[in-house]
Amino acid sequence: MIAICPGSFDPVTHGHLDVISRAAALFDHVIVAVGQNSAKQYLFSAAERLELVRETTAHLPNVSVEPLDGLLVAFAKARGAGVLVKGIRNASDVDFELQMAHINAVVGSVETVMLPTAPVWSTLSSTMVREVASFGGDVSPFVPEVVARRIRHKSQGTEQANG
Ligand code: PNS
Repeated sequence: MIAICPGSFDPVTHGHLDVISRAAALFDHVIVAVGQNSAKQYLFSAAERLELVRETTAHLPNVSVEPLDGLLVAFAKARGAGVLVKGIRNASDVDFELQMAHINAVVGSVETVMLPTAPVWSTLSSTMVREVASFGGDVSPFVPEVVARRIRHKSQGTEQANG
């Protein structure tokens, strides 16, 4: 069975990678869908977020990464995926994801599987990583080294197109 792990991944964190790798152990194939939430202002461009998720999941042979445009359930249907996988950190996540799960089941006949995040990452969010990064703090405990490096370059304004 093919599963989708959707998100903004701005930036991808150890928490995301925990959920993605565990989904990869449960399903035949996992497509990480890197989307755009119109309510959010992003630190990384869509291309950068896609690239960083690709780099940090490259070691997982049954995981692929694609940009997500439009409705998530249409994306899932077009790829023959019947399941969405969501990481759950706390009760607020459950409340929100239940709403989304019901909508996506009705609109797209897609099931949602919620995976409890590993406790060590249960208070981690990309929002907090961006907050720490915006003040020049060290985000290396929370994200892969390639992401931490990219954030450092960004805040120093020395980022190269492929650096
Ligand atoms: O990490 P995020 O910001 O929670 O990810 C949100 C994202 C991009 C995965 C979500 O906004 C999304 O799925 N957008 C596509 C449009 C859609 O299908 N929305 C949900 C229907 S209610």
